[in-house]
Amino acid sequence: MIGRIKTQTVEASQFLVDWMEHRTGIVTMLEHFLYEPVPKRGAWLYTLGSAVLFTITLQFLTGILLLFYYAPTTDDAWNSVEYIMTDAYFGQLIRGIHYWSANFLMAFIGLHMGQVFFSGGYKSPRELNWIVGVILLLLVVGLSFTGYLLRWDQDGFWASVVGMKIGSYSPFVGGYVIHFLLGGDVVGPATLSRFFAIHVWLLPAMIAPLIGAHLFLLRRHGVFGSEFEYTDRIAKLHERQRLEEYARYEADEDEGEPYVGRRDRADREGYERDGE
Ligand code: HEM
Repeated sequence: MIGRIKTQTVEASQFLVDWMEHRTGIVTMLEHFLYEPVPKRGAWLYTLGSAVLFTITLQFLTGILLLFYYAPTTDDAWNSVEYIMTDAYFGQLIRGIHYWSANFLMAFIGLHMGQVFFSGGYKSPRELNWIVGVILLLLVVGLSFTGYLLRWDQDGFWASVVGMKIGSYSPFVGGYVIHFLLGGDVVGPATLSRFFAIHVWLLPAMIAPLIGAHLFLLRRHGVFGSEFEYTDRIAKLHERQRLEEYARYEADEDEGEPYVGRRDRADREGYERDGE
């Protein structure tokens, strides 16, 4: 009985998948999107970029849910956070995920960047992807900074005051940028509104297309060091070595060595090596 139900469920889901594939091609598209060859050596390290992608997606999702209750005004911000933590359904869980995943996001980005650096993944033709990555890193740091003030408690308030004080000492533009962020001379209602707008609208709107560009460039060049990248290079290297070997034998021939027999042997050896 249970066996029959199991078989019928499998058949029904297979039918559904085939039906969708036939009409939309979505299964092939997903396969193409999800599978990326990576070098065999240290393959786990290549999951770090996906870990960053996963945590930032969690941030977007839990952030949207928090917006159902969060009120970005100096009178209500802290109270609304308190409400989320004590009364709202799953509020504590959702805020907890938003908080911890923000921390993990920063750690994963650092590790991902380190992995790309030490594997040489930033070299030509992937420089532009590195630059996109650096911009993403700065924007994510911006997310952390602006998010901290939103809870409007003593921690977030003073951390923002100190952060902005440090930023105001940046040469030339520091003072102007901080004055704009504050919306006045001190942290107040205008600051909270601006941080909210930047945290919830501006930065996510910049980050989402940049992640798209990052993944597009990744797909364009493949992961650095994958086998398929080397197949082509190794074939070229063998060809060059073969030509160099010929050139050496022809030089020998000028010195009066027998020509035909040696060239034949070189040909045969080259053939055997290629066929390995
Ligand atoms: C929101 C932030 C980011 C996301 C979602 C993200 C996502 C990814 C993913 C999924 C990969 C492919 C798998 C892998 O190699 O781990 C990747 C590769 C890459 N990432 Fe990122 N990344 C981010 C930030 C960064 C940063 C901060 C840098 C460097 C400054 C960077 C530079 C690169 C480069 C150069 C590659 C290609 C590596 C290769 O071909 O071996 N990324 N990224």
